[in-house]
Amino acid sequence: MKIQVLNTPEEVDRRSAEAILRQIESRPCSVVGLSTGRTTCGVHKALVELCREKRPDLSKVTFFGIDEIAGVPREYSGACYTMLKTQVIDPLGIKDDNFLMLPTYSADFPADCARFTEELSRRGGIDFILLGLGENAHLGFNQPGTPFDSGCRVAEMTPELEQRVRRETATPDETRLGGVTLGLADIFSAGKLVLAAKGCDKAPAVKAMAEVKPSEKIPASVLQLHSDVTILIDREAASLL
Ligand code: GLP
Repeated sequence: MKIQVLNTPEEVDRRSAEAILRQIESRPCSVVGLSTGRTTCGVHKALVELCREKRPDLSKVTFFGIDEIAGVPREYSGACYTMLKTQVIDPLGIKDDNFLMLPTYSADFPADCARFTEELSRRGGIDFILLGLGENAHLGFNQPGTPFDSGCRVAEMTPELEQRVRRETATPDETRLGGVTLGLADIFSAGKLVLAAKGCDKAPAVKAMAEVKPSEKIPASVLQLHSDVTILIDREAASLL
């Protein structure tokens, strides 16, 4: 794993966006996974600015979300679909056919998860994923304890996120919520992985990801085993290394 410590959070955004652009320029039909959250919001903004400046051919690229909240309308502002659509897909003019998301509702999540990963394979497999990092070192919704060979499925959200989603969507306690997510094995199958982390809240997770012996207790530590991973972090996120 290559770790690059950058001076500011804005630099993390810009360098992450440049990595996505390089991927698309080197292979215009790339299959590119995106993540949502506070971290990647800035990256998406930088990517839109960069694409407006450099005008790459985006007609063949497939963008997909690596995870989604299960049990809420996809129009909810905190749903990954809506975040990616408003932050990246619409501003870049990506066609609906080239934007793949896991569903927020499903009568059969296992079947929909299988269809989703089959579609990614049909398009040539995952070329690149931009990852965020949970404060407990989760990737997507793969929480501590998730097997490294896990596949796409409905998993748990962190209790903090679940509480926020319930509050913002007025979802009662008896309605089950979850995080539908690519598994760690799906993430690991990507040709190239870039993980962005900013701020001191992420420093313990960054340290664990990079310094522990790979362990299922620390989901992001699986990245140590991958041959093409770049970690882009600011000084605060790097402060415990
Ligand atoms: C969420 C998402 C992840 C994201 C992570 C970090 O739970 N499921 O895909 O990478 O948390 O989010 P943030 O950047 O807001 O800290």
